Amino acid sequence: MSLFMVKSILAVFFILAALIAVICMLSLMGKAERKVSAQLLRKMHRVAGFVFTALLLLTSYFCLKYWAMVGDQISTRAVLHGVLSLALIIVFILKISIVQYYKQFLRFVPIMGMIVFVLSFMVFSTSAGFFFLRILATEHESPEISEPPQTLHQGNAEKGAALFKSKCLSCHYADKEENKHGPGLKNILKKERLPFSKRPANVENIKKQLKTPFLAMPSFVSLSQQEIADLIAYLKTL
Ligand code: HEC
Repeated sequence: MSLFMVKSILAVFFILAALIAVICMLSLMGKAERKVSAQLLRKMHRVAGFVFTALLLLTSYFCLKYWAMVGDQISTRAVLHGVLSLALIIVFILKISIVQYYKQFLRFVPIMGMIVFVLSFMVFSTSAGFFFLRILATEHESPEISEPPQTLHQGNAEKGAALFKSKCLSCHYADKEENKHGPGLKNILKKERLPFSKRPANVENIKKQLKTPFLAMPSFVSLSQQEIADLIAYLKTL
């Protein structure tokens, strides 16, 4: 299972915990008649809150590690995800501090809790939600929609190897199929399917991956046609 899958599954529990926490509080504060006791609702809210915090810390750690490695090359989706997550963390910390230490502001807590929930949902949608959507989309992708073949450049595998070393090796092994940050690229064009997206393993789909990556890989739009041809010539030798 890929790390993205693990993170996305954690994210589903994260959003579930947020949902449970918010429903408990809504029933506690907003319902005149309840079937469940207030004490139980408060307890459930706390437990869901702890699960939420643990998952928030864990996924933030994974994301920061990835961000530190990719640097500025992240997609606009990832930027939006990052900004929303920061806002979420700040409002959440403020809310917890008020509950614990600054009780004069308690009246703001319910609205802050709702903001935390809304932000959590946005953060989830721009990461795990997007991931599940992508997986679904490729399952239904029609093989006919492919870009028109462009003028063929003769690739030079040696130049490609040098390019690979400077641009790709930080995330991909060239000599094995195991995952580094992305899948290992040994035998990449000798198999039937690409390792991650499961699209047919061909030159067009490698080009597509470089221009509009399937998920979290940075885009390499700045590569020239010649450089792409060199890289592909090298990938063919793996
Ligand atoms: C910052 C890390 C990173 C860098 C740098 C990187 N990749 Fe990737 N690569 C990934 C990740 C993560 C995936 C998994 C799919 C995705 O996120 O799009 C991936 C997937 C792939 C795939 C498989 C796509 C599929 O559909 O299964 C290929 C091929 C690939 N990368 C080629 C390259 C090449 C060539 C370079 C250098 C020009 C490169 N990558 C640079 C992280 C990276």
